[in-house]
Amino acid sequence: MRYSLQSGLILAACIAAPVVDAERVLGAYLYSRHGDRTAKVLGNTQLTDLGYHEVFSSGSFYHDRYIAAGSDEQIEGISEPIVNPNQISASAPDDAVLQNSATGFLQGVYPPALKAASQTLGNGTFIQSPLDGYQIIQLQTTDTSQDSESSAWLQGSSDCSKATVSSNNYYLSDSYMSMLASTKDFYTSLSPMLNGAFGADQMSFKNAYTIFDYLNVGYIHNSTKTFPLRDNLTTELYGQLLQLASNQQYNLAFNESDPVRAIDGAVLAGEILSQLNKTITSDGKTKLGVQFGSYGTFMSFFGLMQLPVASVNFTGICDYASTFVLELVTNATGSGIPSTDDISVRFMFHNGTITGSDEPTVYPLFGQRNDLISWDDFKTQTEKIAILSDDQWCNQCGNTGGKCASSASTSSTSDSTGSSSSGSGGMSRAVAGVIGAMVTLAVILGLEALFFLVGGFRIAKRRKSGPEMSSSAAVAEDK
Ligand SMILES: *[C@@H]1O[C@H](CO)[C@@H](O)[C@H](O)[C@H]1NC(C)=O
Ligand SMILES: *[C@@H]1O[C@H](CO)[C@@H](O)[C@H](O)[C@H]1NC(C)=O
Ligand SMILES: *[C@@H]1O[C@H](CO)[C@@H](O)[C@H](O)[C@H]1NC(C)=O
Ligand SMILES: *[C@@H]1O[C@H](CO)[C@@H](O)[C@H](O)[C@H]1NC(C)=O
Ligand SMILES: *[C@@H]1O[C@H](CO)[C@@H](O)[C@H](O)[C@H]1NC(C)=O
Ligand SMILES: *[C@@H]1O[C@H](CO)[C@@H](O)[C@H](O)[C@H]1NC(C)=O
Ligand SMILES: *[C@@H]1O[C@H](CO)[C@@H](O)[C@H](O)[C@H]1NC(C)=O
Ligand SMILES: *[C@@H]1O[C@H](CO)[C@@H](O)[C@H](O)[C@H]1NC(C)=O
Repeated sequence: MRYSLQSGLILAACIAAPVVDAERVLGAYLYSRHGDRTAKVLGNTQLTDLGYHEVFSSGSFYHDRYIAAGSDEQIEGISEPIVNPNQISASAPDDAVLQNSATGFLQGVYPPALKAASQTLGNGTFIQSPLDGYQIIQLQTTDTSQDSESSAWLQGSSDCSKATVSSNNYYLSDSYMSMLASTKDFYTSLSPMLNGAFGADQMSFKNAYTIFDYLNVGYIHNSTKTFPLRDNLTTELYGQLLQLASNQQYNLAFNESDPVRAIDGAVLAGEILSQLNKTITSDGKTKLGVQFGSYGTFMSFFGLMQLPVASVNFTGICDYASTFVLELVTNATGSGIPSTDDISVRFMFHNGTITGSDEPTVYPLFGQRNDLISWDDFKTQTEKIAILSDDQWCNQCGNTGGKCASSASTSSTSDSTGSSSSGSGGMSRAVAGVIGAMVTLAVILGLEALFFLVGGFRIAKRRKSGPEMSSSAAVAEDK
């Protein structure tokens, strides 16, 4: 009764309304941070139940926006309510927190479809998928060093030699030195809260992120029984810890005059560009990309896309289950993929879990003022900062082993990191940086660091990738 009344009204509205040229969404690329997890410093980092809820909630929002029938922003031609595997590609690094987060998120994007997810066999038997119509979506593995969520070192799993050297150079910068000095007393004053997890010599700005992470996780999960000074972690103190950690991590993830530092963001930009390009050139056969990664990759990407021009907030560590999306939109009438002149890109970001009536906010890319950027401009600008091939990656990273052994262009030293080798105390800055990082790593990570260093820099491609993805650059992941 109620149903038919509604259909009647909708039908009437359709007939009555003048034909409006509504904006059409042709495709989208979603990038998300994992949900709440256990502390890095304690090792064996895992997604928590709370974190599962967070990513599921954010994923559900994007279902309602891009998948659900009746949504104004439903991606044109997207399969609903049953997923069409050819239309969606999802990936996450080989890391428990990120993989499980992606799975939880995708459960929200394509929720169980009780009636529809079923088949009738040849002998007439009716089969329904388990868990009330649960839909399985293949998750590709972006190959990186394992357990990146357990690793506290930002470039620890980027595998990119020059990016590692570049981030290490941060520990020699004036910015770092002055922060280290000016926050010495602050970090020492935290020792009653940090005892047991950090040694006295580790309570400094050098460990700004791991200290913030440890206390943040403790505040969320521990009662005063296991965190007696929990109530002393005031909002103000929390803000200070986060701001210091953000300052340190942004500098490790991005430096305008040293582009290779943002290798993670450059690789991601390349993947986003090729996926959106594929949506256009395949005439809409692929429609939705989903990838999970760490806040470090967000920061590198934000820096490269000049988002800090739109808001200084983009230099801060984003909250768990934060998402950004780039959508391909057009106002051209008709259906199908229009001429590229009629296609634009819109960037939106949401800080943390999307709940209730929250919506992501639109920000202009590349320091421009318009919320929309034409596809051609987007492509041109992104190509300037993105890594689009293995050769380019090998060249910028200066790696010579593994996949890069066969790369024709590895001997080139054209990129900017080569310039940071002027001596300090007889030791090149690059070498000093590496040594500095080894000390840092050993202090912060102990055996984990050794595991990484002994393991060496690995370069690898996605596993399970389709033929058209085999040229994608190694995916850099930090945490
Ligand atoms: C029909 O085929 C399925 C799968 O082979 C089998 O499990 C089921 O028992 C069959 N049903 C009948 C009525 O034979
Ligand atoms: C950024 O890079 C430049 C050039 O390599 C370097 O001089 C500067 O110290 C770096 N800044 C930071 C914060 O790492
Ligand atoms: C929270 O509890 C865990 C497990 O009991 C403990 O290892 C950790 O040190 C506690 N965190 C804080 C900040 O005290
Ligand atoms: C924790 O807070 C209480 C109440 O404000 C205060 O008395 C105590 O000195 C604080 N402890 C530390 C170690 O800061
Ligand atoms: C876009 O797709 C076309 C056709 O497949 C291809 O030739 C071109 O290299 C792609 N460009 C990018 C940036 O992926
Ligand atoms: C930056 O973050 C603050 C606090 O969350 C918010 O009030 C402000 O609107 C943000 N600025 C922009 C430009 O998004
Ligand atoms: C997200 O929120 C955190 C505070 O929780 C803030 O530090 C960060 O700058 C925000 N990021 C953006 C892009 O708004
Ligand atoms: C489509 O037109 C509406 C209304 O003028 C405008 O707000 C929107 O930005 C346009 N979208 C595109 C992709 O041009």
